[in-house]
Amino acid sequence: MKLTIINGPNLNLLGSRETDIYGNQDFETFFNSLRSKYSNINLEYHQSNVEGELINFIQDSRDSDGIIINAAAYTHTSVGIGDAIKAIDTKVIEVHISNTFSREEYRHNSYLSPVVDGIIIGFGLKSYELAIESFLPKDE
Ligand code: DQA
Repeated sequence: MKLTIINGPNLNLLGSRETDIYGNQDFETFFNSLRSKYSNINLEYHQSNVEGELINFIQDSRDSDGIIINAAAYTHTSVGIGDAIKAIDTKVIEVHISNTFSREEYRHNSYLSPVVDGIIIGFGLKSYELAIESFLPKDE
């Protein structure tokens, strides 16, 4: 199974950016721990601060079994990212590290939420892990 994680603007600064909200861990270290934990999954990771590059990543990842996307601030502004998700058949999960609904009102709107398959918000970096788990078969 191939899953692609796509991170938007300023998430390259995780670990030093607003650590009270986003924590102390940088994403590369976290991503390596995900790769070790889910060694049976082909995990890809892309990050960009540029809206159009995120759209290219979405289009280029449509061969994945799933996309896990944190569009960061573009979540609240980008019709283009919403349209890119609508344009592909791949299953897409929207994630956020912080609980966007307990923050400023402008973070309450998402152009992604109406067009994704699922949403995981507010569990810190664990949000990404929960999103990966959603693609795994249920243990019965
Ligand atoms: C974020 C929430 C967004 O509102 C913010 O702009 C981010 C990160 C999160 O993961 O909590 O950059 O997507």
